[in-house]
Order: sequence, then C-alpha cells, then structure tokens
Amino acid sequence: LEKKDLDGKRVLITAGPTREYLDPVRFISNRSSGKMGFALAEEAYKRGAKVTLVSGPVNIQTYADIEIVNVETAYEMYEEVKSIKDKYDILIFSAAVADFKPKNFRESKIKKEQEQELQIELQKNPDILKYAGETKKDWQIVVGFSAETENLIENSKKKLYEKNADLIVANNVLQEGAGFNVDTNIVTLISKEKVLELPKLSKEEVAGRIFDFIVDYLCRR
Ligand code: C5P
Repeated sequence: LEKKDLDGKRVLITAGPTREYLDPVRFISNRSSGKMGFALAEEAYKRGAKVTLVSGPVNIQTYADIEIVNVETAYEMYEEVKSIKDKYDILIFSAAVADFKPKNFRESKIKKEQEQELQIELQKNPDILKYAGETKKDWQIVVGFSAETENLIENSKKKLYEKNADLIVANNVLQEGAGFNVDTNIVTLISKEKVLELPKLSKEEVAGRIFDFIVDYLCRR
C-alpha cells in the first residue's frame, strides 16, 4: 500500500557536490555522490509530490517525472534556488555545497612553466540553506543537513536556529556507515520540539523517515 501523504505538495531538493573552478579545466570539489538527495526526490515523488532536483554533477538516473536542473558551481545552485524557491512547500538542502571558491578565476589554463609555487586564495560561497531560511514564507518547511564529528545534537540545534530551518538531519560522519559515498546513513532528526535518533538505515529508508517526520510533526503546524 503506497502512502500518498505528499499529494499536491511541491518539493525542492538540492543534491550532489559543487565544482569551484580555478581555471577552465580545474576545479575544487568533494566526494558527494548525490545518493541522499536522489533518494529523497524519489520518496517524495512516490508519495505524490511534484519534485524538482537542483543537482551538482552526479552519475544517477531517476524517474522522468522528477524535474532535474543541472548546475555546477555553488553560485549557480544559489541563483537557481533563489529564482524558483517560492514555488515550493518543502525545501530540502542535501547538497554538499563547497563552502569556499577560488577568489580569482584564471581565464586561461594555469601553466606549470609560469610558476614555481602557486597560492590559491579562497572566498566564501553563499549559504543557500541560510538564505532559504531567512527568506522563508510561512507555508514553507526548510530542511538542512549537518555533518558533525563532535557534539552532534548541540551543534545541529545551533544550526537549526542560526539558519531558521524547521528540521536538521544530523549525521556523525565518523561513524561507519554514515555520510559520503556509502549506501547507508545513521542520522538524528532534530526540530525545535523533537529529537529522533534513527538506527543505521539505507538512504532510501532514511528518506522515508525524513518525510514521515515532516508529515507528522511539521506539516500540521
Ligand atoms: O553550515 P553547514 O555547511 O554545516 O550546513 C550544512 C547544510 O547547509 C546542508 O544542508 C547544506 O546543503 C547546506 N549548505 C548550503 N549552502 C552552503 C553550505 C551549506 O545550502 N554554501
């Protein structure tokens, strides 16, 4: 029996890594596979939602009915989210956005002959989750992720308030079977009123529990 408890809801999800270019052929990125974001998109779609995924470069196929907007850099992801976000009821930020980008983009390829040493200066990227939280409409639910190595609950609660989110999905990245590039995740769901610790689950099961939490505790406010 399929739950259709997201019928009529519009869901926006960010997924995957971003790429921050140094020159036309080189970039800084991370190991995010996009699996968690795509699992969330498929779960929302199965439960009746209209889903848009704003995704960095990943190697995952999904249902044709899920709209995918491909982006590369954090700034492109930010611009895209900014321009479409008010069309959505539930916004989930599962992308592993690069916190920094090279300060100076070199228009032509950096040549090793020209340098003995190379310094790369970095500057902060926009925080997309924070922006969505700060500009949140009263019908919107904003969900963020947090990867911590210590004080999981405390640091995630802080993030919840600082970014004006409704839910933080917190994972301790030091635990085996959690985080980047694995098929499982061990997370704790943290809202202003509730803390729910989950066991090790597949990313599909985690996606199911996240939407259960949203439907049970956040949608009926
Ligand atoms: O502050 P921190 O990077 O730990 O927050 C992680 C959460 O914020 C994730 O949900 C991530 O998708 C989101 N984020 C973002 N834009 C950034 C950095 C993080 O949306 N530039």
